[in-house]
Amino acid sequence: MKTIALIVAAGSGSRMGGETPKQFRTIGGKAVLAHAVDALAGHPRIDAVRVVISADAQEDARSALGSRDVGDFIVGGASRSESVRNGLAAIEADRVLIHDAARPFCPPQVIDRLLDALDSHQAATPMLESADTLAGQSDDKLGDVVDRAAIVRVQTPQAFHTHVIRAAYDAYDGAPTDEAQVAKAFGVDVALVEGDAMLDKLTTQGDFDRAERQFAANMVSRTGMGFDVHAFDGPGPVIMGGIEVPHDKGLKGHSDADVLLHAITDAILGAAAMGDIGEHFPPSDPQWKGADSEAFLLHAAQLVRGAGGIIDHVDATLICEAPKVGPHRAAMRANIARILDLDERAVSVKATTTEKLGFTGRREGIACQAIASVRMEAK
Ligand code: CTP
Ligand code: MG
Repeated sequence: MKTIALIVAAGSGSRMGGETPKQFRTIGGKAVLAHAVDALAGHPRIDAVRVVISADAQEDARSALGSRDVGDFIVGGASRSESVRNGLAAIEADRVLIHDAARPFCPPQVIDRLLDALDSHQAATPMLESADTLAGQSDDKLGDVVDRAAIVRVQTPQAFHTHVIRAAYDAYDGAPTDEAQVAKAFGVDVALVEGDAMLDKLTTQGDFDRAERQFAANMVSRTGMGFDVHAFDGPGPVIMGGIEVPHDKGLKGHSDADVLLHAITDAILGAAAMGDIGEHFPPSDPQWKGADSEAFLLHAAQLVRGAGGIIDHVDATLICEAPKVGPHRAAMRANIARILDLDERAVSVKATTTEKLGFTGRREGIACQAIASVRMEAK
């Protein structure tokens, strides 16, 4: 039995406003669409996720999704229901979950309830009861109270036996706002399962701001450390933080021996528990010989951000008797801030000697310690 999740993301987000459609805007540094894809793709009972986008959004969707595997994009239509129709025509599956990209957070329990309900029903939708009093309105005046016990708020994802929702859509004339009503109009009993407030749709800027706050509250700050040493060997200059610092000796290393960038790279990887620099850039691999360490740092930052991490701050201490770091500190900070796309205030570079003690004191090499703070989803 094959279950596919179909995410519709071909809307223009007109009620939200702004230049970028809401599904491509970020919450906690990660695109809304990517949140929705991760929530569904990460569920063990879902075999694949496919995404419906508008014809001109290929680039936005690609960059929102990074390396996530959603097969070829399906091109949507002028209305949500047209987009769903196109999606249904493009997939092969026994069961389908149809979901709005504009609902980025889908708890796994809701998916379980929906798929369980499909064992006894041909269609199922999550819903929430209203805690507020519900009433009609006309001409800005309060109308009659509606019995709230008789009303539910209908969410997505909605789950169907694929052939049933296809047949229901074939028979349907009009532009429905969801599929449960299409199935119902076709005479199908649609099971109601408990939804979740996390599934509320992002429609207005206010919804978005609330979701951003809610998400941030679920992020924890993690700290990573890095340490690196390079020995002096041959003529200068030395490269520290991507800056050439004049010195009579240079540093020995497989790459450009940038002790400062290496330590910061490891600190960032450490904060996200994503391995270390040697694992990602093995010295045995000829492609890194003489490499500009900027590439290492940038790659580490992209890995961490791709996993939803927000890099908040890095701090490093260079340990050497010479060369003097002070005159180059500002340039190093600016360069690291540029590579990491951080405000300079979030980048600190310090230096110390070891009072002529140890290998750094004997001027045999330079050591560097670094620390990074990264906010990650608590899970
Ligand atoms: N959608 C779609 N194709 C359309 C219109 C909407 O795939 N032609 C998708 C949206 O991208 C969204 C979901 O359907 O994920 C729910 O629609 P809605 O919240 O109305 O989003 P938009 O249509 O983008 O927003 P608005 O109505 O404010 O323009
Ligand atoms: Mg719409």
